Amino acid sequence: MSDTAQTLPVPEAVGKLYDRLTLTALRDGTFNPNIHIGFWDTPDSKAPLEEAVDRLTDVLIERLLVGGTDHVLDLGCGVGGPGLRVVERTGARLTGISISEEQVKTANRLAEEAGRADRAVFRRADAMELPFENGSFDAVMALESIIHMPDREQVLTEVARVLRPGGRLVLTDVFERAPRKTPRHPSIDKFCRNFMVTLADADGYVAMLHRAGLRLRGLLDITEHTMQRTFEELARPVEGADRPEALGQTNLPDLFHPSDMLGVDEFGCLLVAAVRP
Ligand SMILES: C[S@@+](CC[C@H](N)C(=O)[O-])C[C@H]1O[C@@H](n2cnc3c(N)ncnc32)[C@H](O)[C@@H]1O
Repeated sequence: MSDTAQTLPVPEAVGKLYDRLTLTALRDGTFNPNIHIGFWDTPDSKAPLEEAVDRLTDVLIERLLVGGTDHVLDLGCGVGGPGLRVVERTGARLTGISISEEQVKTANRLAEEAGRADRAVFRRADAMELPFENGSFDAVMALESIIHMPDREQVLTEVARVLRPGGRLVLTDVFERAPRKTPRHPSIDKFCRNFMVTLADADGYVAMLHRAGLRLRGLLDITEHTMQRTFEELARPVEGADRPEALGQTNLPDLFHPSDMLGVDEFGCLLVAAVRP
């Protein structure tokens, strides 16, 4: 099945999926405050997965260029791990949105427990239609969340609207890398279908940002730093069990098994930075 033939994600259904993942993780004791892949600076880096996951958040933070007077929007905030790290490391104020009510509840609880509820607030909202005034934010981060949204250009147009002039956007996205194979590897289709993900058109990204009212600052293929190593780490048995919880997937083998993705190197990750002129 090609990407264009794939059924588009429906935000309500994505929200229900993440409600289920959150409740299952809390119940099973497999809860993780971050739901994204890791970033290793070099191929021989020995950093454990948990450290690499935080490192990817830090790679975004380095490009957000925010400080204590700034207000950041975390678009698709998960259960708040990355957003709380932004607050901790930069002093910025943060508003996080997720389409999952359970994630929002959990994120607000974590903010309270961390003593950061005065700087970080999480609420349920759909990124396709942001409930914020024009120019409300100094920066927007979207860590592995635009992958679930049915219309990237609409989301980016909303991002451009809520950013002030000069405001920054940093996001990660997934795409199908060259050389593309026909037919596409079935594990990619399974991943996209089960997690309601569509793949970005990397070649068209710059033009899409432009149409949305944003200008490119940088677009990097970070696959070599992220994807395969994450799947290898997740697939490696730990005390007789694998550890999908590190991606927040919990024990849901019906959705995904990391070993399905081993060697599937045409499944890539982009790091995109843009500015609202
Ligand atoms: C893979 S998780 C990433 C979470 C978080 N950024 C992190 O790295 O831990 C994807 C996130 O995107 C959110 N999301 C997906 N579609 C959305 C939409 N239409 N509006 C708002 N949030 C959405 C999900 O609810 C979830 O929080």
